[in-house]
Amino acid sequence: MNVDKIKLINFRNYENIDLDLNKNVNIFIGKNAQGKTNLLEAIHMCAMGKSFRTNRDKEIIKFSKNAAYIGVDISFGNHKKFIEIKLESDRPKTIRINKTELKSHKDLDSGLNIVLFSPEDLRMVKDGPQERRNFLDKGISQTKPVYNYNINRYKKLLFQRNNLLRTGRFRKNIGDLLDVFDIQISKIGTSIIIERSQYIDLLSRYSKEIHGKITEGLEELILKYSTNIPILEDRKEMEKAYIDLMKKNIKRDIEYGSTEIGPHRDDILMYIDDREVKVFGSQGQQRTVVLSLILSQVELIKSDRGMYPVLLLDDVFSELDIDRRKYLSTLFCNIQTFITLTNSENLKSIDGFNRSIFYIEDGKLIDKE
Ligand SMILES: Nc1ncnc2c1ncn2[C@@H]1O[C@H](COP(=O)(O)OP(=O)(O)OP(=O)(O)O)[C@@H](O)[C@H]1O
Ligand SMILES: [Mg+2]
Repeated sequence: MNVDKIKLINFRNYENIDLDLNKNVNIFIGKNAQGKTNLLEAIHMCAMGKSFRTNRDKEIIKFSKNAAYIGVDISFGNHKKFIEIKLESDRPKTIRINKTELKSHKDLDSGLNIVLFSPEDLRMVKDGPQERRNFLDKGISQTKPVYNYNINRYKKLLFQRNNLLRTGRFRKNIGDLLDVFDIQISKIGTSIIIERSQYIDLLSRYSKEIHGKITEGLEELILKYSTNIPILEDRKEMEKAYIDLMKKNIKRDIEYGSTEIGPHRDDILMYIDDREVKVFGSQGQQRTVVLSLILSQVELIKSDRGMYPVLLLDDVFSELDIDRRKYLSTLFCNIQTFITLTNSENLKSIDGFNRSIFYIEDGKLIDKE
């Protein structure tokens, strides 16, 4: 899968730029704050329908302008697609694929799969479970758009249930009202947990293998899914166990005004040689775990879609040591990659590949090699 061309108008600090992209390695090089990450953000938007830096689309429109445009040509095998996003300050964004407008940006299943790796991803190991759930959700929705729909629906139902817990605690019939919610929540929650459980099974297999290769067999990475609902083979049984647990917790839920049971409390536990990485892992070990997880996503998409996604590497190449860079580079032959760099010193380690170098300054392309 490739992004062949990108056009931006009034997007972040770009007034107007057109780039013809390399099928292999694309390097955006420039000093800080020149617009390198902005280019990755634009590609990300065409794959996911939204930015990885903000939920407020208006921030993306160039200062003092009213509208922004992104257009990308993508190709996979013999297929071609043209994805366009228009952002306007006074209305929701619109997305068109081959000139046909989507009803909602949530329908974006453009076929453009990407995997992004940025320094922020280290938070996945260091920070709380929310980061890990986001990683899971992003990964699963790329190949299963209905999962994303379920997540949004679940969040809405949970919000309503929590509201009811807070506002209706003195109502006599609160039990009946909750029953109605709980049937719906348990159905969707069960679907989410089953998807996550299957995904983590695959993720742990791939990441164990990749991590083993990077550490040359010296360390073993184990992932475990942590959820407070029992995962049962029979789906109906599982939904029933889910409802029973909700009922068991009802007193506590009313007292705290929040729901204890469900996938919004899920986590992935990560261990190297039986020790939790979050607690005992060195900086380098934590980075290697994140790299292994991200590269597993690359392989998961490949096995699901039959082709590699596009890989976006923001500011990480220079942070990796020589062994990890080497390992990452083994992918470059099969996969279109976008790399941002501030220092041309690091170009040396990306030698020997079919590559284009774009020199970026103040939202403009000043040179290309
Ligand atoms: N809506 C906007 N309109 C105009 N300029 C913007 C807008 N949003 C961000 N910018 C500018 O874009 C620049 C940052 O771009 P970007 O994040 O791509 O930098 P970068 O080249 O990746 O830098 P670094 O190496 O520090 O990561 C900043 O100068 C910022 O002011
Ligand atoms: Mg940047």
